[in-house]
Amino acid sequence: MKRIGIIGSGAIGAAVARLAVNAGYTVMIANSRGPESLAGLLAELGPLAKAAEARDAAVFGDITVLAVPLNAYATLPSDVLAGRTVLSTGNYYPYRDARIAQLDTRQATTAEYEQTLLPDTHIVKAFNNIVAHHIPLLANSQPRTALPVAGDDIEAKASVSRLVNALGFDTVDAGTLAESWSFEPASGAYTVIYAASEDGFAADYLADRGAALPAARLSELLAESHQPDVRRDSSDRSHSAAR
Ligand SMILES: NC(=O)c1ccc[n+]([C@@H]2O[C@H](COP(=O)([O-])OP(=O)(O)OC[C@H]3O[C@@H](n4cnc5c(N)ncnc54)[C@H](OP(=O)(O)O)[C@@H]3O)[C@@H](O)[C@H]2O)c1
Repeated sequence: MKRIGIIGSGAIGAAVARLAVNAGYTVMIANSRGPESLAGLLAELGPLAKAAEARDAAVFGDITVLAVPLNAYATLPSDVLAGRTVLSTGNYYPYRDARIAQLDTRQATTAEYEQTLLPDTHIVKAFNNIVAHHIPLLANSQPRTALPVAGDDIEAKASVSRLVNALGFDTVDAGTLAESWSFEPASGAYTVIYAASEDGFAADYLADRGAALPAARLSELLAESHQPDVRRDSSDRSHSAAR
């Protein structure tokens, strides 16, 4: 049976859950408030979805999707996640997550920092560089839209890439966790690259309906990307529109 566990039921967790049930996966989803709080989402997702505590969602499938703010990673059940492949959607937003010195000084990428919080997991970065409402709009687009995937463990990265493919997106190998800055906030391959109109997205990102981004173009954008200066580029809420 195709199974996937998701921790986080907000904008990104729910968007991934919708794709997963549409693709025939059984989904176990968790949040911080407990399974009872997920009745509305479960009703929408249908019979393939179940709600659970984070510990149970963590071990439900071969891959655990993390869709929680970066400031929650330290509270996740790292003991049961150990040894597992983890698809991390997280980004660093200092206004939300508080200042993290290793990230402000670029000693680590967000993904490398997450790896220190969840040792012994195989973190693979995906779905972090696209705004949540573009996900259903661009899944299974014609031409297919591509998402970058980065990770240090080759098998884990391949496994996450297959999942992303099954959910309706092509993938581009964006290298290791150390190289994943190329699709962090304020880099050259972040959310606006999926916009139908750059100006429209800047003015009202939620009104933008998205535009297909094929793998070849994403590869170019990743190659041209620049490492963001987190202290300057994402220190305030003005960037939350593109989170
Ligand atoms: N929104 C976007 O467009 C977008 C795009 C790309 C990447 N991201 C990144 O994806 C991550 C999630 O963003 P989001 O926008 O989906 O956030 P969100 O809408 O605020 O949802 C966050 C979810 O995480 C849950 N959560 C928080 N702490 C938890 C804990 N300790 N254990 C279990 N669940 C916990 C929350 O539970 P409750 O529901 O109980 O509060 C909520 O369901 C962030 O790192 C964000 O930067 C977001």
